[in-house]
Formats: sequence, C-alpha cells, structure tokens
Amino acid sequence: MSELQTLQVDLLARVEGAASIEAVEAIRVEALGKQGRVTALLKSLGGMTPEERLVEGPAIHALREAVTGAIGDRKAALERAALDGKLAAETLDMTLPVDRIAPGSVHPVSQVMDELAEIFADLGFAVASGPEIEDDWHNFSALNIPETHPARAMHDTFYFPEAGEKRMLLRTHTSPVQIRTMLKDKPPIRIIAPGRVYRSDSDATHTPMFHQIEGLVIDRGITLGHLKWTLETFLKAFFERDDIVLRLRSSYFPFTEPSVEVDVGYTMVNGKRVIGGSEGWLEVLGSGMVHRKVIEACGLDPNEWQGFAFGTGVDRLAMLKYGMEDLRAFFDGDLRWLRHYGFAALDVPTLSGGVGVAA
Ligand code: PHE
Repeated sequence: MSELQTLQVDLLARVEGAASIEAVEAIRVEALGKQGRVTALLKSLGGMTPEERLVEGPAIHALREAVTGAIGDRKAALERAALDGKLAAETLDMTLPVDRIAPGSVHPVSQVMDELAEIFADLGFAVASGPEIEDDWHNFSALNIPETHPARAMHDTFYFPEAGEKRMLLRTHTSPVQIRTMLKDKPPIRIIAPGRVYRSDSDATHTPMFHQIEGLVIDRGITLGHLKWTLETFLKAFFERDDIVLRLRSSYFPFTEPSVEVDVGYTMVNGKRVIGGSEGWLEVLGSGMVHRKVIEACGLDPNEWQGFAFGTGVDRLAMLKYGMEDLRAFFDGDLRWLRHYGFAALDVPTLSGGVGVAA
C-alpha cells in the first residue's frame, strides 16, 4: 500500500469510529487544518516537477476529498443520532391532565346586574347611570322629600362636610337617576339604573354600601296595570319560573302616588324557602306611580306625562335567587366564598331564554 493509501485508510477508519462531533472535529483539524497532514501533502505539490505533480496531484486531491466527505457524513450522522436521542427522551404525554389555571369569577352582584340588564333590554329599557356623590336636591328635594320631611331621617345618610351652597352626600338610593334622566331626556322614557348606594347601617342583611336597581317609565297614559305587568314579567324571567305570584300592598314613598310594595310568594321545600307559589311572602321591591310633583320638578307637565318607578336591592335579589344567607359576605372578598358563589366568566348566560313577550 502506498503512503497515501495508508494515510487514507487510517483517517477514514478514525473518522468512522469517532464517537462525538468534537472527536470528528479534532480529526478534521489534524488532517485538513493549517498544519494538517493532508494540507501538508497539498502544499508539497508546489515543490514537485510537472511530471511528479501529474501523478501525485490527482491522488492527493482524491485523498482530501475522501477525507472531507467522510468527515461531513460522520458529523451529519452524529447530529442525527443526537436529535433522535433527544426526541426519544423528551416525549410529551398528550393524555396527561393540564394544570388548572384560576381564571377568577364573576361576582354574583355583577352576574345579577347582567341578568337584569338582559331582561329589561328585552322589554325595551335602556341602562342609565348617575353619580354616587349626589347633592341634596337630586337625592331628596326633587323626589318630593323636602328638608323637614321625616323620610330624610329614615335614610341614614352619609353627608359630606358642608362646603358651598350644595350639601353633598352619598346617594341613599338610585332614585336620583330618575330625576337626572327626566331632566336630560324627553319622554317616552324607559330606563333601568343599577348602581351602588350608601346608608349608615350594618347587620346580617344591611351593609353601608349595597346595590339597587331603579326602573322608570314615563309616557302618555301609563297606568298601575303597566307597572304590575312589567314587574310580573321581570320577576318571572329573573327567577326563571312561571309560578311566580305577586302581592301588591299599598305603601308610602314621597316620590310615588299611589305607592305599592311588592311581595313575591314562596313555598317551603325541605325546610328552605323557594321562590314560587304562595305559602308565604317576601318583600322584594318598592314602586308606584311617579308623583306629579316629581314630574313637575323635572319640568314636565304631569297632565301630559305619567309613569311608574320601582326600586329594589340587587344584592337581595341575588340572595333570594342563589341562596346566600349573609349580605356582609358579598363584600368581604373571601376567595372561598367567591369560588363557591362566583360565576364562570365564559359560561353561557344563566338565563335560559329571553323574556317571552308576545308580539
Ligand atoms: N328609592 C326607594 C328605596 O330606596 C325604592 C323606590 C324606588 C320606591 C322607586 C318607589 C319607586 O327604598
């Protein structure tokens, strides 16, 4: 065997036997690097006679090509083996359960407000809002509660320290939104106004901040019959039951005349009150025909425009529908309570269908 052949056999055998990319690289440097053995042979061509070069040239170039090719092949094979090993080691088990992420939940108050907006939207009501920091006039005077009226004492009002002519307060009910809407919009008016209200009160069924929803309809020829139908339709849709029975009791609010308090019937099932039927009664809302003086205070002619209004506690509605016992827990922010009573944000709406209003 010639010297070149011996070198080629030796180099190819070592490349073939190299166990790692680094080992192949070391052989490449040894053979083809600047000081490499094959490189030296190539350089020696310069010192040869043309005749010698004619014989040696092709042989040395063939050696270089054989070694270069073998190195390339071996590197590729080692890389492929490394990748195969990695793929085999890192298998993903697609059948494993995924980690649960806690996406948070919708608070029952928000849920009920959404339900109410949905129900009243079907009945043609828009959603209105007003400020929580109100003035005396919108919260009381315009609603026919003059300064000396005992009803002012009934509302345990949070007043701001006196500053300027207007006495500011935290609104005690959503009724001032009635006034703001009548001053701003021309009748016919059909609105609901959900929002926070404040009273200095705290026990299992009262918190200093709670939520109300107001309803107001102003149009020509509105009667108590419209009020009764609207409330019945609303309560049936809200409690998702057809056997809702209402009881209207005559009552008193300064801003409605006549005023009616509305009770909804319940039935005892396994020692628990269930809305529906008429074994007992729960008071759910206050309402009445808007007082002439209120319509006048908003610059409308009470001989032309009539209407009804109602107001109820959103938190109370939530408690009745979803069975919470203590109102204070609504505002404690206890995660266990929120997980238990909260609603999934991406759930289908709770209301099974819209309000079935016959055309
Ligand atoms: N604003 C009354 C309350 O807070 C409820 C009400 C609203 C009554 C509208 C009649 C009409 O108790």
